Amino acid sequence: MKILFVCLGNICRSPMAEFVMKKMVADAGLSEQFEIASAATSTWEIGNPVYPPARRKLAEHGIGCKGKTARQMTRGDYDYYDLIIGMEQKNLRDILAITGEDRLGKVALMMDFTDTPHDIADPWYTGDFDATWNDVSKGCAALIAKYGQTKTENQ
Ligand code: 4NP
Repeated sequence: MKILFVCLGNICRSPMAEFVMKKMVADAGLSEQFEIASAATSTWEIGNPVYPPARRKLAEHGIGCKGKTARQMTRGDYDYYDLIIGMEQKNLRDILAITGEDRLGKVALMMDFTDTPHDIADPWYTGDFDATWNDVSKGCAALIAKYGQTKTENQ
């Protein structure tokens, strides 16, 4: 399962989702089943590292994000990834502006995988990185529950 997390800038929400998901998948022993990355809808932060408050929030939980720099999503990403996951409704509209229609039904909203669907607020504006952490963690756990296969299910 190849997953691309997408937000507006690719310096707060989607990289947090990328590195939380990588950690959860590794902890569950499922790393070989997943390929995980993140990208922006905008060009605004291209080349920039993860925003320091987001990086600190990850670090508080023992998660690194070294080397990640923002990039913009491409049409090629649509073909390559199995799931393109936006953080809020506006991301979905902006993703479709890049890809054209969602021909293969790959585009989804992060919190729609949970039992409390809602937009993940933009911490660039709210400053609330704890809320981002909580939402992203719930979303990633729900994704693993849905797409992670245990060894017995594989046999
Ligand atoms: P993100 O947050 O979409 O969660 O990465 C933002 C980062 C940068 C900007 C907006 C949102 N910006 O306006 O540059």
